[in-house]
Amino acid sequence: MSRGETPSPEAGCGPGGRRPWAGRRVVLGVTGGIAAYKSVQVARDLTRLGAEVDVILTSGAEAFVRPLSFEGVTGRPAFTELFSSDGAAMHIRLGVEAEAVLVAPATADFIARAAQGRADDLLTTTLLATRAPVVFAPAMNDRMYAHPQTAANVRHLEERLGYVRAGPAVGPLAFGEGEGPGRMLEPHELVEEVGRALGRDDRFEGTRVLVTAGPTREPLDPVRYVGNRSSGRMGYALAQAAWRRGARVVVVAGPGHAPEPYGPELVRVETAREMEAEVRARLPDCDAAIFAAAVADYRPAAPASSKLKRSETGAELEVRLEANPDVAADTRDARRPGTVAVGFALETDDLLARARAKLEAKGFDLVVANPAGEEGAGFDVETNRVVLIDARGGEEALPLASKDDVAEAVLDGVAALLEARR
Ligand code: CTP
Repeated sequence: MSRGETPSPEAGCGPGGRRPWAGRRVVLGVTGGIAAYKSVQVARDLTRLGAEVDVILTSGAEAFVRPLSFEGVTGRPAFTELFSSDGAAMHIRLGVEAEAVLVAPATADFIARAAQGRADDLLTTTLLATRAPVVFAPAMNDRMYAHPQTAANVRHLEERLGYVRAGPAVGPLAFGEGEGPGRMLEPHELVEEVGRALGRDDRFEGTRVLVTAGPTREPLDPVRYVGNRSSGRMGYALAQAAWRRGARVVVVAGPGHAPEPYGPELVRVETAREMEAEVRARLPDCDAAIFAAAVADYRPAAPASSKLKRSETGAELEVRLEANPDVAADTRDARRPGTVAVGFALETDDLLARARAKLEAKGFDLVVANPAGEEGAGFDVETNRVVLIDARGGEEALPLASKDDVAEAVLDGVAALLEARR
């Protein structure tokens, strides 16, 4: 399996969905907090994505959730004992074979023990034995999280040991507690964190990637707009995949209804002009820009300031449209030299020739050519059928695939271009 390949939770976890992590080894450490019940879902989702998940419960975790719950969703034994008949070297084996470790929930006590390098249970000994990336998801009372000793321990794990902190989120804590930072991230977010730990791609190290996504809405009056059926799914899949590979990602997104990506910074806009301004402001800091938005090419020239009334417009309403900016082409001057630029071309006829013309006209290095109106491809569906066209004349036709798979293929192309420009 190739680097960076991971799913959106829905695409990957659905029946017959992708199993992009087939054969990848993940250790899931569970410690004693009320959020432990959510970790069963994490184990299930990772397993459905193909990962082989070894669950280690601390004795505290067992007060909240049983090993059997995890065994039922992973189909593998869950471990609790450091000294067991399975062999004293279990912690070494689990640690060495792991490709990523997630500790969720990570309690204040676990964080303190890990920061001290303790080896008093199977989880902490496994952590000392592993060299795989470790992600921890703090979950505790907000006052405990804010305590200077906990803060120092968390910093130690991050700065000294290079562990990745995931959360905590702000939101309702256990019954009767507060709402400050202390809540464990949601299972799908933790799954993405594991994806990033498994999917790092050196070619994206230190890079910043901008993605435009979704439709734009061009107001006709305060309640109506001209727009299109784009959901934003393709752009979000690209942003999510770039983030998993280790890039810092900003998405400038119009109002689509696809579930938001986890990890990338999300900048919301409504109109093409707003999208252009946000893209222009960010492009000078970017190493790659992927223009996946379905920008409305025209906007009502004179939007009404109050709601248009049928009683006043009569049987017909004429709306004059004027051209919007071309976000990709008009911000070309803001790209710094060497920025990798990727565009899409949605065409009903003459797909390849027109896509190539867009590549040249808009200064793209790569164009994702998309036949319009084909079943299973284009707007508002989970899949896409595309041809990747590069500036050197290369063409690669991909089979009908999930938007996550298409995103991975596009990012392989971006990665090769980034590497060539280093
Ligand atoms: N694009 C853009 N701003 C626009 C129109 C398009 O940034 N106002 C970008 C799209 O994000 C895509 C590429 O340009 O990457 C091509 O978009 P497409 O809709 O296929 O083509 P258009 O340039 O709009 O041309 P036409 O509608 O004539 O096919």
